[in-house]
Amino acid sequence: MKVLLTGGTGYIGSHTAVVLSQLGHEVVLYDNLSNSRDAVLKTLAKITGRHFPLVRGDVRDTELLRNALASYGIDTVIHFAGLKAVGESVVKPIDYYANNVQGTISLLQAMQAQQVKTLVFSSSATVYGQPQYLPLDENHPTGATNPYGRSKLHIEEMLSDAASSDADWRIASLRYFNPVGAHESGLIGENPNGAPSNLMPYIAQVAAGQRSELRIFGNDYPTPDGTGVRDYIHVMDLAEGHAAALKFLNQASGWHAINLGTGKGCSVLEMVCAFKKASNRQVPYRVDTRRIGDVAACYANPTKAAELLNWKAKRTVDEMCASTWQFQQTVEIE
Ligand code: NAD
Ligand code: UFG
Repeated sequence: MKVLLTGGTGYIGSHTAVVLSQLGHEVVLYDNLSNSRDAVLKTLAKITGRHFPLVRGDVRDTELLRNALASYGIDTVIHFAGLKAVGESVVKPIDYYANNVQGTISLLQAMQAQQVKTLVFSSSATVYGQPQYLPLDENHPTGATNPYGRSKLHIEEMLSDAASSDADWRIASLRYFNPVGAHESGLIGENPNGAPSNLMPYIAQVAAGQRSELRIFGNDYPTPDGTGVRDYIHVMDLAEGHAAALKFLNQASGWHAINLGTGKGCSVLEMVCAFKKASNRQVPYRVDTRRIGDVAACYANPTKAAELLNWKAKRTVDEMCASTWQFQQTVEIE
């Protein structure tokens, strides 16, 4: 297949580019580089031995997208491009709706104009809001507690409406749980700008000595050790989930919401412990108050992905920590 990855130079996009290319798909990247660098192209070539074309542009540029779809003969799009920081979305909601919602409208218009109607969308477990029961299956009620989450929900509704209006659309909304880890080469991984807001990159920087200590946001949750529990999924498992979704969409029309998670919860303290083991470094921490908006526990029921995509996450928390550490050691201190 000829696949356009919007946001393809970012964290999840770049890992997915590796997996798809190794499966024989032709991959074109489309990114405005607002949260990534084009240096990743050389790294991707080093890992795969292949060249990845990059169209540098914004997804809100419908004409540029149309041209990219036409000139590369694209038949499928994976839509990673968007802004993703929950806290920032509260401060800059208009930017989030413009990038995420308006960006997706523009993409759908370009795809419709070019008669490209197969789409995989990067959704998030955040669309479940406050869990009413666990594990979270796809029938759990949706809701959002911040503009980022709401932008994902609005997009899912648009995608579902588009699929209902025209049976040619084949759309999968993949609801990611907590992607972490790095490619086994250690050459690509998650390298956030500034202080990380997510747990794993923060732990990695503390272990590397770039930050003095981790703040654990609450140890009084109703969880086995009192710290927050999440479903961490290795980014390479996630990338393989996208390849499985492409295969599924070959024989399925309509709109499908599918969880990509492991089904297993891991607490903050368990993650700290696993990272210490993987890195052989200390991870000093102190317990702080709960972070506003956090839930106690969030993990997936991954049955639908197993049934529809014939996909299961297989990598362990230890592998997630080991690959994160390997990548961390190659990252320049900024
Ligand atoms: P990322 O920031 O590393 O990648 C996103 C890419 O999109 C970046 O390269 C950025 O430059 C690009 N981009 C942003 N706005 C754009 C625009 N308007 N036009 C063109 N390019 C644009 O993030 P990621 O972690 O790889 O996330 C990819 C997708 O997965 C996002 O949609 C995110 O919301 C979703 N997601 C991520 C997580 C996570 O924890 N990483 C969890 C759930 C869902
Ligand atoms: N945590 C800390 N200290 C930190 C950072 C996080 O204790 O410095 C804790 C949090 O309180 C939480 C857990 O570690 O209990 C995981 O927090 P993350 O910020 O890594 O992840 P979240 O589950 O809060 O959110 C992530 C993404 C969202 C996405 C969600 C579900 O940031 O965009 O997963 O996919 F919506």
